[in-house]
Amino acid sequence: MSVQAPFRNNLLRRLPVEETVSPHYGGRHRLSLVYKTRDLIVLGLGVMIGAGIFKIAGEQAATTAGPAVIASFVIAGLACLLSALSYAELSSTMPIAGSAYSFTYVVFGEIWAWVIGWALMLELQLAAAVVGRAWSLYATRLITDLGTLSGVSAIHMPSFLSGVVGQETGFDLFALLLLLVLAVVVAIGARLSLYTLWFMVLAKVIAIGLVIVGGLLFFHPSNLKPFVPPARPASANGDRTVLDVLMGGTPHAFGLFGIFAATSAIAFAYIGFDLIATAAEETQDAPRRVPRGMIISLLITIALYIGVAIAMVGMVPYSKLNPSTPLASAFAGVGSSAMGLVIDVGAVIGLATVVLVVMVAQTRIIFAMARDGLLPSSLAAISSRYKVPTRAALLVGFTAIALSQVDVWTFGKISVLTLQQMIVIGTLFAFLFVSAGVLALRRSRPDLPRGFRVPAAPVTPILAIAATAWLMLNLHLRTWEYFAIWMAVGLAVYLLYGRTNSRLRHVLDGRPVRAHGRHRR
Ligand code: ALA
Repeated sequence: MSVQAPFRNNLLRRLPVEETVSPHYGGRHRLSLVYKTRDLIVLGLGVMIGAGIFKIAGEQAATTAGPAVIASFVIAGLACLLSALSYAELSSTMPIAGSAYSFTYVVFGEIWAWVIGWALMLELQLAAAVVGRAWSLYATRLITDLGTLSGVSAIHMPSFLSGVVGQETGFDLFALLLLLVLAVVVAIGARLSLYTLWFMVLAKVIAIGLVIVGGLLFFHPSNLKPFVPPARPASANGDRTVLDVLMGGTPHAFGLFGIFAATSAIAFAYIGFDLIATAAEETQDAPRRVPRGMIISLLITIALYIGVAIAMVGMVPYSKLNPSTPLASAFAGVGSSAMGLVIDVGAVIGLATVVLVVMVAQTRIIFAMARDGLLPSSLAAISSRYKVPTRAALLVGFTAIALSQVDVWTFGKISVLTLQQMIVIGTLFAFLFVSAGVLALRRSRPDLPRGFRVPAAPVTPILAIAATAWLMLNLHLRTWEYFAIWMAVGLAVYLLYGRTNSRLRHVLDGRPVRAHGRHRR
């Protein structure tokens, strides 16, 4: 890597943009090129359509927004679309595996890059764990529903599994096994993951389509009234959002602010379009294909989600939705219990693909951070057999398994399923930096080739920043507190390890840097 003045060698040292795409840096020439635009769309649908639509949408309708959850989906979708445009521009300029982490390294400097990388780790590791646990709930329901609805007594949950699968809290065997299997799949290569993914995404899109069509058959406009139920104080132990605190009030459910509180929770459902950027180094003609794949998959997802939201709240009054099994309860409410089985199958397949893509993306981000020396360089080694960062993948799998069982090793103090807003805050934090990055890079390097340009800049990135900040204000205060602790730990790790081991620091000092290794397995 050759770096010239005026880059200063301090915590704000910046990776030269040319280096991110240079063969000397190792960027575009180490991972195999496997993705085309259609694969990226599948990747996007694979990671976006999951617990957000199968579970959280109905939870929010039942407890926070009522029928106006449709508006929450529209607002969250538009806010994410604004950020997606910024992701598209930066990934077309810097098609590199580290996504927001690498963009920030180039635009704002190393310490900010670390901060974003650390926030992304929170997003992805927790997402794998939380969605893995939600998968277990649906897998257990599927087995039970198969037995009940088919009337075949041989299909039932074996008694030795009762109490260890489909658990909201405590140890969960299904979540552990799912994460283990998927970690191995990711560790032995993206090709296998891609074929598996195509099949699984198709199956879940069909299930979602059936939910929309089936639901609309029972649509009754009176169920949408009142569209915005009157605001009322949330339950006594309801968490306060930052906005509640700023406005000096108690938490409210429903009403106008209920729509916004639900919007922030629903942002979870769209998380994933940002991960398409991590596949850039494995995409042919990435500067054009990554932006296309990202925006098309997000638009399809927005359309599907709004369709499901309309179908769900149009079938039964929102107060009849069961927050734990909202879609199934809506169909049961109109006498169509068999649809519960379609939902179970869709969720089991759909949630598994979310975990799979999240794990692939997390592996690539760790790979990129290790390649920069901010994490141990052995994590940047590509397996000569499988052509992927196998060690990074195994680390991701191990950590996700540990987090999925956090209830056990914190002796019941923390339940992983309550940490979903932590995923949202980590993601939104990265969104802020990416939109700000578009503005900064347009100013500092207007000359760079951009395969995609955000329309109406600087207005669009500024709107994206404002929308993201608004969503963050609507997250719980407790989420912010946990997030602050996580970031403080991250800064300590950087000061103790990354700051001194940074590859860029060594280059700027004129010291030789070791080539990244390959390992045999
Ligand atoms: N968007 C993903 C889901 O809804 C994270 O599960």
